[in-house]
Amino acid sequence: MVSALKDCHNIADFRLLAKRRLPGPIFHYIDGAADDEATYRRNTEAFEACDLVPHVLQGIEEVDLSTTVMGQKIALPFFLSPTALQRLFHHEGERAVARAAEKFGTLFGISSLGTVSIEEIGSAISTPKIFQLYVHKDKGLNAQMIARCKAAKFDAIALTVDTAVGGNRERDLRTGFTSPPRLTPSSAFSFAVHPSWALNYLLREKFELSQLKDYVKEGSNIAVTVSDYFSTMLDQTLDWKEAEAIRRDWGGHFCLKGIMSPDDARRAVDIGATAVMVSNHGGRQLDGSRAPFDQLAEIVDAVGDKLDVICDGGIRRGTHMLKALSVGAKACSGGRLYLYALAAAGQAGVERAMALLKAELVRDMKLMGARKISDLTRKNLRWR
Ligand code: LAC
Repeated sequence: MVSALKDCHNIADFRLLAKRRLPGPIFHYIDGAADDEATYRRNTEAFEACDLVPHVLQGIEEVDLSTTVMGQKIALPFFLSPTALQRLFHHEGERAVARAAEKFGTLFGISSLGTVSIEEIGSAISTPKIFQLYVHKDKGLNAQMIARCKAAKFDAIALTVDTAVGGNRERDLRTGFTSPPRLTPSSAFSFAVHPSWALNYLLREKFELSQLKDYVKEGSNIAVTVSDYFSTMLDQTLDWKEAEAIRRDWGGHFCLKGIMSPDDARRAVDIGATAVMVSNHGGRQLDGSRAPFDQLAEIVDAVGDKLDVICDGGIRRGTHMLKALSVGAKACSGGRLYLYALAAAGQAGVERAMALLKAELVRDMKLMGARKISDLTRKNLRWR
C-alpha cells in the first residue's frame, strides 16, 4: 500500500501516490500519452532489450556521478526536463523542482508553459538552468522570452521541435482536462473528492502561465487543452532556418529537444546546436515513434563527438541510465521521473525521488565495476 511519502521506494510508487492525491483529469494529463500510448510504454520497455555486463573485483568504494553537459558540470548524470503547468500538480510547482535540483547539483529546466516566471527561477537558484522554448506564432512573444532568459542568466535554451501540432491525447479528451482546469460536473466531483488539492488550487496564488500571460489569454484565462494550444498557438512554419536564427539570437548553449533521427542530429550540428535531447516528448506526440533508447546508438555514432547527446524519456531506474550512458549519452533526463513525486509531495517528494535514483546509481555503478561515468562504455552492454 502506498499512502505516504515514506512508502515510496521507486518511481512507480510515486505514481500511485500521485494518483491518490490528484483529481483524475490532472493525474491523467501527466500520466497519459498519445493514441494507444504504445510509444509511451516502449520508452521504458526499450531498456529491457539490452542487458548490463558487470565487471567485478574493481575495488570501488567511491563513485563519481558527475558529468558535463551543455557546458555545465552537474553532480548527477541526469536532470529534470522542463515540463508544463507544474503549479497545477502541486502548489509549490517549479519552485519545488528548482530547489530540489539545486540541492542535488543538477540542471533544472523550465517551460514556456511554466507557472513560475523566468525571473523568479533565475534569482531563486544558483545551479544551471535551461529554458524550454515553444516557438509561438506571436514573434514578439518569442523574442521577449529569449531576452528574459538572457537577462535572468539562463545557461541554455532547449528548442522544442516535436510539437508542430498537438498529439492526440485521448485521456485528456475523456477527462475534459484543460489549462486552466474547467469546472464541469465530472471535474467538480473529482476536485471535491480531493479537497486538499482543491483548497490549494483555490486559495493559493492564482494559476497562470507566467511566461505567456501578457501575450496570450489561452492557458491562463481561457481554458484550452494542451493539444489545442500546440495546434493553434505554436508556429507551424518553424523550420531549420528559423531554428538557426533563434540559436544566433540566443548566442549561448543551444539544444534541440525532440530529435529522433541521425540525419536531424547532423543538421542540429550544422545549425550550431551544442546538444540534442533524443526524445519523443514522453510518447505524448507521435504514437508509433521509436523510443529514445532504441535510437540512441545511431545518434551517438552520428554526432556524439560534435555535441552532447541526452537520452530523455522512459527512465525509471538507475540501471536505465547506466545503459543510456554506456551507449554514449552525456546525460539522461525525464519529466514523469520527478512529476509524480512533485504531485505526491512537493519539494520533499522530488527530493526523495532524486535521492532514490542517486542511491540506485551509486549502487549500480559499484555492482557494474564503474567508478566514474566515463568508465561506462558499450563493452558493458549486450543486446538480446
Ligand atoms: C505536454 C507539454 C506541454 O503536455 O510538454 O506534453
